[in-house]
Amino acid sequence: MEPKILVIYKSTTGFTKRYAQMLSKEVACTLAPYKSATPELMSAYETVVFGSRAHAGRIDGYPRIKEMYKKSSARKFALFVTGAMPAAAEDTISAFWAQNLPGNELQKVPHFYLPGGLCYEKMPFADRLMMKAAMAMVKKKKHKTAEDLEMEQAMASSYDISDPAYLKPLVSLLKKAGG
Ligand SMILES: Cc1cc2nc3c(=O)[nH]c(=O)nc-3n(C[C@H](O)[C@H](O)[C@H](O)COP(=O)(O)O)c2cc1C
Repeated sequence: MEPKILVIYKSTTGFTKRYAQMLSKEVACTLAPYKSATPELMSAYETVVFGSRAHAGRIDGYPRIKEMYKKSSARKFALFVTGAMPAAAEDTISAFWAQNLPGNELQKVPHFYLPGGLCYEKMPFADRLMMKAAMAMVKKKKHKTAEDLEMEQAMASSYDISDPAYLKPLVSLLKKAGG
């Protein structure tokens, strides 16, 4: 039987791609890189999952994928996002979702945050510059909160906090959807 689930991933330094690959070992699905996504491709599946990275508070590529999904005949949609935030940063993660899923999207779109990390070695130049600017902003702050200090330390070098266990809630959802 053909898989009914399409997992589209957009990954720059590899965290999101690795989670997508781990997901494909747990549920029957087809993996597709972001560049190959079209409404026609989505229409060949019942469920579309989009995996991407958090990028300066936004979900990289989400607006384009959302438009494609609307044009497709796929019936279900879910989202996972990887980022540098640890799972414990619950308030920041909630604020991130509230900002990126406006209106009833927050209720309607199943969404999952998967901690990734930072990989300076694979980061494009423009991203490294953005990280430098973010770092300088935190450094300049006069009254740093505990979170600022934690962030400053974390941003200083590459790290990997990814773990297959974070995929469990998404895997359960997709298994119910027939994956
Ligand atoms: C310029 C830049 C901005 C970022 N902004 C955020 C952010 O707002 N929130 C977050 O949690 N992580 C942020 N990150 C970290 C990435 O989301 C994280 O490294 C992600 O797992 C990368 O996924 P990828 O390896 O699939 O590209 C940022 C990284 C870069 C380079």
